[in-house]
Amino acid sequence: MILENKKISSNIQLYHYSLIDPQEICEQYIKWLNDTEIAKLIALPNQQIKDKNFILESFQRFTQKNCIGFFIKDLTHNLFIGTCKIDKIDLINKSCEIGIMIGEKQFYGKGISKIVFAIILDYVFNILKFHRIWGGCLSINIPMNKTFKSLGFRNEGIIKDAILINDKYFDNYLYAILIDEYNPLKNNP
Ligand SMILES: CC(C)(COP(=O)(O)OP(=O)(O)OC[C@H]1O[C@@H](n2cnc3c(N)ncnc32)[C@H](O)[C@@H]1OP(=O)(O)O)[C@@H](O)C(=O)NCCC(=O)NCCS
Repeated sequence: MILENKKISSNIQLYHYSLIDPQEICEQYIKWLNDTEIAKLIALPNQQIKDKNFILESFQRFTQKNCIGFFIKDLTHNLFIGTCKIDKIDLINKSCEIGIMIGEKQFYGKGISKIVFAIILDYVFNILKFHRIWGGCLSINIPMNKTFKSLGFRNEGIIKDAILINDKYFDNYLYAILIDEYNPLKNNP
């Protein structure tokens, strides 16, 4: 499965993990997860060196029944630039968590997280017909907080001192959007 939405972007496609050979993306993925700035924002232990085994284990997360993982492809550069996923899929209550990691930092600040989220919102609400999408990020993650807000997510609360990084605690901000609150004309980038 490849997710795309030309009305949102003609440049970004989301490749289902099963279309990717883990061995082929391994070196690139190692580079992303060993970047201390990225590791901090996704709350990975900074000191741990992420080797090939760690990466293949990470990849396994995408294969869980309650998760659908994608690799983000930038078509202009013909390059995989990160990952995104819907996770903790709850079929009874029709809800899931949304997450993203752009590993290629030269693509930061170009609106890609908003494009990726908009493609996922369209898929989850219009194709899967889910009721609720939720997510969270550290208080210090300015672009991620902005992305949630600009796509129409509501702040649902703050988990105080949720994450310990280098002996310092950080709050985690929680966000959610319901299908009734979703308006593709308003909520797209
Ligand atoms: C967080 C992340 C996904 C943001 O992706 P991005 O494509 O660079 O973000 P965008 O370009 O779509 O920017 C989103 C908003 O943040 C703003 N922004 C981007 N970088 C910024 C910065 N360094 N400082 C302040 N604002 C910034 C943009 O102007 C935009 O604001 P707007 O809504 O007012 O237009 C990306 O930085 C990343 O993957 N980081 C590492 C992993 C991570 O943090 N994942 C999320 C964990 S929950």
